[in-house]
Amino acid sequence: MSSETTAQDDAPKKGAVARALRWMIDNKPDLLFAVIRNIRPNLVLPGKDGPAFITRFHDVREALERPEIFNVPYAPMMDPSVGEFMLGHDDTVYNQRDKGIMRSVIQRKDMDGVRKMVDRLTREAVDPQLHKRQIDVVATVSRHVPMRLTGEYFGFPGPDIETMLRWSRATQHDMFHNPDKNKDIHNANLKAGLEMKAFLKDWIPQCRTRLANAPATENADVLCRLLKSSFPKEIDFDEQRITTNIMGTLVGGGETTSQAVVQILEQLFKRPEQLAGAIAAAKANDDELLYNYCWEALRFNPINPFVVRTCARDYKVASGTFRSTTIKAGKTVLISTRSAMRDGRVLPAANDFCIDRPAYHYMHMGYGMHTCLGDQVSRVQLPAIIKCLLQLPGVHEVSPIDKKGGPFPESYVIGFDSPAV
Ligand code: HEM
Repeated sequence: MSSETTAQDDAPKKGAVARALRWMIDNKPDLLFAVIRNIRPNLVLPGKDGPAFITRFHDVREALERPEIFNVPYAPMMDPSVGEFMLGHDDTVYNQRDKGIMRSVIQRKDMDGVRKMVDRLTREAVDPQLHKRQIDVVATVSRHVPMRLTGEYFGFPGPDIETMLRWSRATQHDMFHNPDKNKDIHNANLKAGLEMKAFLKDWIPQCRTRLANAPATENADVLCRLLKSSFPKEIDFDEQRITTNIMGTLVGGGETTSQAVVQILEQLFKRPEQLAGAIAAAKANDDELLYNYCWEALRFNPINPFVVRTCARDYKVASGTFRSTTIKAGKTVLISTRSAMRDGRVLPAANDFCIDRPAYHYMHMGYGMHTCLGDQVSRVQLPAIIKCLLQLPGVHEVSPIDKKGGPFPESYVIGFDSPAV
């Protein structure tokens, strides 16, 4: 048999393997990862397109601590849309300077205010629907509240909420959920990027005028804080950098938060005992305890099965152990934070719902160089949204999460008995 015939015969097989793998990742991720984690924890599939999986807790951390080896693959989708951005590049000025500056204007001391803001925004979204005795969480709350927070806290209100939601969806779709590089999805992302830049080009001078008239405004939003700061020319943090980083707050915080909200609720509704505990924490305004319930619930269905990287040069993972594996340069590497958070070698009773796990067991916000810029905000925003919903009397699930064939939850309906007091 000629090698040409063999290659042709192999092509459908490879397609079938890729399709089966994708089906498992979408439908039975925990089964797939448990098998890989226990049998071949750093599994390298053959061929140009076959990815490598990293699935154990310590190996996931090892890989994410080495951005010079495991590179983010997002630049081709991010750079032409929002500009050169921290998540599109590894170990560059965008990670060091931009992230440092952004961290300095998104402060922990703001978080009490963020909690109150989210509480108000959620009530404003839910209260007009109370007479209906049921709400679609996605349509009413989980997408709207983060976008309104982007307006009020990050200082990027957009022309209207519908446009912001379109920008958020279009950018996330292409940047993180377009493995086949569909052109329409990519073009929608580019269009969103152009529109965001055009909006900010008008909006930033308006903010500057506002600031000139009220320089002592204490509760300045994140954009205003950036505009109030003066960076010498050598720092090179100009208005274009501000624009990109502010766009990044909308891209980063929209669909991620929405997905997390509905997936947390769904996991709680599956577990009556834990649901009762979470409702009690919500009613007692015990934010820390509710945060524990939320982070643990999300562990059973986190927003991503893995973060994706490209291996820049041959690298041996878990060197010196029986599971050590060399990953070749050029391989796509699926670093499974989902699997790591179920690794019983590190997490005691990994399949049980426990609300007293240490913070380091969770990787919902990523790990290492690209740890989420909105981690503190999310730590507050998610429980605050969930709290308002769990305080609804007799709250229950009406219909499961419906992604309507796309990558994001599009509908999740919950019901309640009578209007909250
Ligand atoms: C529940 C909500 C959120 C989740 C689950 C989440 C998750 C993540 C994850 C897993 C990463 C790392 C991706 C990777 O390593 O490939 C990340 C990065 C990032 N997130 Fe979030 N995120 C959330 C909310 C937000 C919010 C509210 C913002 C707004 C500031 C934001 C902005 C970012 C940015 C700018 C990065 C890139 C950081 C870097 O490259 O250094 N995220 N997020």
